[in-house]
Amino acid sequence: IIKSVILSGGSGTRLWPASRENHPKQLLPLTSERSLLQETAVRLDGFAGGEVDRRPLVVTNEEYRFIIAEQLRQIGVRSPQIVLEPFGRNTAPALTLAALAALEEGDPVLLVMPADHVITDLGAFQQAIDQGSSLAGDGMLVAFGIVPDRAETGYGYIRAGMAIGGGRELAEFVEKPDLDTARRYLESGEYFWNSGIFMMKAPVWLRAIERFRPDIAEACRSAYEGHKQDADFIRLEQGAFERCPSDSIDYAVMEHLASAPELGKGAVVPMSAGWSDVGAWDALWAISGKDEAGNAGRGEVLFEDCRNTLVHANDRLVAAVGCEDMIVVETPDAVMVAHKDRTQDVKKVVARLKAEG
Ligand code: GDD
Ligand code: MG
Repeated sequence: IIKSVILSGGSGTRLWPASRENHPKQLLPLTSERSLLQETAVRLDGFAGGEVDRRPLVVTNEEYRFIIAEQLRQIGVRSPQIVLEPFGRNTAPALTLAALAALEEGDPVLLVMPADHVITDLGAFQQAIDQGSSLAGDGMLVAFGIVPDRAETGYGYIRAGMAIGGGRELAEFVEKPDLDTARRYLESGEYFWNSGIFMMKAPVWLRAIERFRPDIAEACRSAYEGHKQDADFIRLEQGAFERCPSDSIDYAVMEHLASAPELGKGAVVPMSAGWSDVGAWDALWAISGKDEAGNAGRGEVLFEDCRNTLVHANDRLVAAVGCEDMIVVETPDAVMVAHKDRTQDVKKVVARLKAEG
């Protein structure tokens, strides 16, 4: 059985002003009528490769509980399990909590997915999951690799080794390298990007986190042991979780996996499924449907002689005239206009707004 675990506690500041702290990227309908979280939850519908538990396990921040429950209800997910973190401690604790919760339901293979990614080729995605599932069933910790097309420093890099099952051995994992290193990896042709999607059996993750970060493992165990079930919500013991250090799956475990063969092998399954983590507005433009001139519009939008422009309208009619390589995002209380090459800098606006209160 495959059990999906959806990590949905982050905030995504580069997609301001659509993304806000109390309404983060994963809860927005960016690419379709559904939010990215909803798209993530339905991605395995019709999966032919084996049995899938229809109740996803969502790990998220306390603050998002109602909107997440409501969004899952809208797509017909009945009785999900929603683990509520009183505060974010990054993804390593989130996955540890999910593994502890999943263990109570037998020994499923976990399919761990970030809630804020886009995948356009479902067939290719499901095929990769199918391969990953058999490797994970054999006790491996499986990552999914994307062929890189630029020296992105915001991703993890995986060097693939010998062929193993339907994938390759994970020979090396480096999270967020500096630019020179990323360039070297790109040129070598030996590295994949880490997609952030993982598969493994719960005990495999728990053994790894106990080995590399016993402090995280211990804090999560006591936070989970003291949990209270409240309808679909799992509320942790707050004091114990407060003690939990913050770290990501990638730094806490993936970077060390290849050096600890006694824990079992890591594997990487190449995935060519139109993956994007929609890190910023230019990425959204790149994956959106466009007219012949390269314009992508959402909402009530009028393009007059524009090229390669994205207009994201929420509330009002937005007309763009003679724009080229522009991003325009309209929301009820803020409008952002940016050059398409500068969308990474949107986070500077968010930082300023925060500082200036
Ligand atoms: N529950 C919970 N709690 N979820 C969290 C938390 C947390 O404290 N922090 C982040 N998340 C969720 C985010 O909402 C997102 O869906 C996912 O976990 C990944 O977190 P990010 O913060 O977006 O990670 P990243 O983008 O810096 O890096 C990861 O993803 C890259 C690909 O997009 C790494 O896995 C990289 O190696 C990878 O290349
Ligand atoms: Mg991310």
